[in-house]
Amino acid sequence: MMNMRRLAPLLVVIGTGLAAQTAAPPVDPVDPDGYRPVDDRLAELGQLLFYDPILSGNRNISCATCHHPGLGTADGVALSMGEGATGLGMERVPDPADMPEQRLPRHAPALWNLGHESFTVMFHDGRLELDDHRASGIRTPLGAEMEAGFAGVLSAQSMFPVLAADEMAGHYSENEISEAVRIGRITGPGGAWDLLTDRLEGIPEYRSRFTEIFGPEEILFTEVSDAIAAFIEVEWRADNSPFDAYLRGEEVRLSPDAMEGMDLFYGELGCASCHSGPFQTDNAFHATGLVQIGPGKRARFENHMRDEGRFRVTGDPADLFAFRTPSLRNVTATAPYGHTGAYPSLETFLAAHMAPRAAWAAYDPAITPMPALPGDDPFVAAASAEIRDAVLAAVPTADLVLTDDEIAALVAFLGTLTDQSSLDGRMGVPESVPSGLPVDR
Ligand code: HEC
Ligand code: HEC
Repeated sequence: MMNMRRLAPLLVVIGTGLAAQTAAPPVDPVDPDGYRPVDDRLAELGQLLFYDPILSGNRNISCATCHHPGLGTADGVALSMGEGATGLGMERVPDPADMPEQRLPRHAPALWNLGHESFTVMFHDGRLELDDHRASGIRTPLGAEMEAGFAGVLSAQSMFPVLAADEMAGHYSENEISEAVRIGRITGPGGAWDLLTDRLEGIPEYRSRFTEIFGPEEILFTEVSDAIAAFIEVEWRADNSPFDAYLRGEEVRLSPDAMEGMDLFYGELGCASCHSGPFQTDNAFHATGLVQIGPGKRARFENHMRDEGRFRVTGDPADLFAFRTPSLRNVTATAPYGHTGAYPSLETFLAAHMAPRAAWAAYDPAITPMPALPGDDPFVAAASAEIRDAVLAAVPTADLVLTDDEIAALVAFLGTLTDQSSLDGRMGVPESVPSGLPVDR
């Protein structure tokens, strides 16, 4: 992108070829006070809910199906098949009795550090964000219909997957949840959220856990989403990587390659102009020209395959095809990459990221990890000259071809952002969930 070959190198090479790690750290360390204290009982309840298919209309998919710790809290494929398929990752197959209507339009993102207060926008297009002007304190696609009283934006986020037909609710008139969504009954008695909490009321272990934490009153969906958020915050906090130790000034040796990559990232390649701050994101939106695959993002009455990203939220032409800069924490564990997941490795992604025009021309669908869905060709958009031209017209910078050495150094640096304790998980995958439904392991 911005080719800023100007900053002084951070790397000082001594005679032995080892990097002298005395240069000033390029960013401030993560502020540990940015993670709010979490009640253990709430996080334990959230763990059960996160893995329990009871929150899906047809009781066949949980949050963990698309955000699995074994797949870096994502699902290891480009575009998820939600409700109507079985299995995990590349082994996920459509259920012939209940075929998914389509793949999800965007890649399932990883969930690292989302409890930190610096994450105030959610989704690839930021359609959920903190907004002090709303009663609920949050701006969402539901507008005034949104419930108030969340612990934060992460909690608000958890209220949505259960409403989406292709994610968790199931198709129209298959079950009482999707039926309520179809007729627009989301909030209030008999609404989709209320119907889901009714299911929990009927399961003694959930009822007693909610009573212990919130009291004997009727379970509210905001409590469900607060519990799930608490779980995500504790389980996938990832601020103890070698890079964090380095930022905190602790005794740690990063490899010469990683130091060189850090130097490129914060220096001449200008990665940090967007991947800024301790989590390597400015939480803002940029058009970087990634190849588009999948069904695109459209409303029911629209007929096109484009995904115009942030533009769909703001209507501002400056936001056409712009997507949120992702945090790069644990990025080595979260392949495939980009908002469509088109690229299977960091090496292939980075080459394409910096040179999108060359990348569209060279894109080969065979590299994209995508389980088959009969009757669906997810690569139509990538072959469309019209979509390609529209996407690339939004990219403000010229192609920058990275050398293999630069890519190797960047990948080595990105490896220092891996916090092994967060990958291992703290609570892990539960043996069973209170509904007795199967757990994705
Ligand atoms: C069928 C797959 C699927 C299921 C099931 C699913 N998600 Fe997601 N999740 C996604 C996709 C895809 C996105 C990105 C959507 C977008 O940006 O438009 C996403 C986005 C998110 C985000 C936003 C992350 C960020 O940084 O923007 C959070 C948090 C999240 N999901 C949590 C959950 C929770 C909690 C559940 C269960 C209640 C859940 N998801 C169920 C696929 C899924
Ligand atoms: C102009 C802002 C900008 C610059 C400069 C930039 N990026 Fe990005 N980066 C983004 C955005 C936006 C995305 C998401 C793009 C998408 O999904 O369509 C992204 C995605 C990524 C991803 C994929 C992460 C994932 O989880 O899928 C990696 C890795 C990455 N960038 C690394 C880099 C590196 C290394 C550099 C420097 C060589 C760099 N970026 C320069 C904005 C930028």
